[in-house]
Amino acid sequence: MQLMENFSLKSYNTFNVACIARYFSCFENEEQLQDSLDMLNMKNLLILGGGSNILFTKNFDGHVLKNECKGIAVVHEDVDFVYVKAGGGENWHQFVQYCVGRGWGGLENLSLIPGNVGAAPIQNIGAYGVEIKDILWSVEAFHLQERKIKTFSNTDCNFKYRDSVFKSKFKNQFAILSVIFQLRKTPVFSTNYGAISQELERMQVQKLSVIAIADAVINIRRSKLPDPAILGSAGSFFKNPIVEIDICQNLKNKFPEIVFFPAGKNKMKLSAGWLIEQCGWKGIRKGDAGCFDKQALVLVNYGAASGIDIMNLSMGIETSVFYKFGIRLEREVNIL
Ligand code: FAD
Ligand code: EPU
Repeated sequence: MQLMENFSLKSYNTFNVACIARYFSCFENEEQLQDSLDMLNMKNLLILGGGSNILFTKNFDGHVLKNECKGIAVVHEDVDFVYVKAGGGENWHQFVQYCVGRGWGGLENLSLIPGNVGAAPIQNIGAYGVEIKDILWSVEAFHLQERKIKTFSNTDCNFKYRDSVFKSKFKNQFAILSVIFQLRKTPVFSTNYGAISQELERMQVQKLSVIAIADAVINIRRSKLPDPAILGSAGSFFKNPIVEIDICQNLKNKFPEIVFFPAGKNKMKLSAGWLIEQCGWKGIRKGDAGCFDKQALVLVNYGAASGIDIMNLSMGIETSVFYKFGIRLEREVNIL
């Protein structure tokens, strides 16, 4: 294991912003993680996956530990399900493709999300009507201070919309080493999210399959989200705000076109993209920081934007959304 000092993280974050880490090392298993922790015994630690949900606004004065724990294996099977364990350092989309290719159902709607398996439970990744909580069986995580492994069941993770214990109560306390998923041998298809059925129709799919759904999701995502290899971003910068039903109704009276979706008992989820677009931000560029022209919820780096430039843009957006709609946007991206 190699310890790097004053290490550039520019190519380790999908916003592609400049940032220097005081120390950087990779770990491939629990033992290597222990060794890395012993080596410096620093308090300021960052477990890094694919860097696709982080915005660095300053250099990181601590130890970045990049998760490279690999491996995919079936650990158990019963009549209906296959239980697949994936290392935290596996690339998420490649793992999804591995499962989709074997006809196992559950992950197909989550195709093409950047990042690694180990980060997926942190914010309970979700897309096109499915969240990781729907198929996650358990998480194996290493407590960075107590130096021991804990297994979290699905319930222990306390998953909510873009949230889990790893983002709240236990924030920065654990390194996720691996995740076990419970996947269906006979898939149950989830095509309720409008755009999926339209895309399947456009693709002239005759027989529904996990591969067809994965391909439809990939097509939709490519049409509206920036490819991190071409344009820097971290996906949605903000969460869609969840509000009481009467707040939503008041807004609808004032703004009849407002976009919202049911979000549980007496709650509605407002489309943050719509709110931002209505404030005139969609496609706006301030230097090299911009609000993406195909999806207003996504902030992008056109080249040389710094983390601070992107933060400043995001604060301008938050202010105008609050001023126009009285809604406070909450960031989805982890700011460092
Ligand atoms: P990182 O950015 O490396 O880390 C994110 C956070 O998790 C950090 O706080 C980090 O410390 C922590 N972390 C990472 N790995 C571990 C670990 N092994 N143990 C403990 N903590 C860890 N998200 C969605 O939910 N749905 C989408 O549809 C979606 N679309 C996106 C589209 C684009 C173009 C981009 C760039 C991002 C998108 N995202 C989406 C956000 C992002 O892909 C996910 O949040 C992803 O899970 C982040 O994975 P990562 O490995 O890159 O995490
Ligand atoms: N909309 C606009 N203008 C915009 C963007 C969206 O009016 O610029 C409205 C449209 O009416 C559109 C609706 O909002 O139909 C929903 O848009 P979209 O399907 O693109 O989804 P989203 O709510 O903007 C969420 C997630 C995405 C996820 C998609 C698909 C959050 C914060 N974002 O976006 O996740 O891929 O749904 O399920 O929940 C991410 O978390 O990084 C991310 C990309």
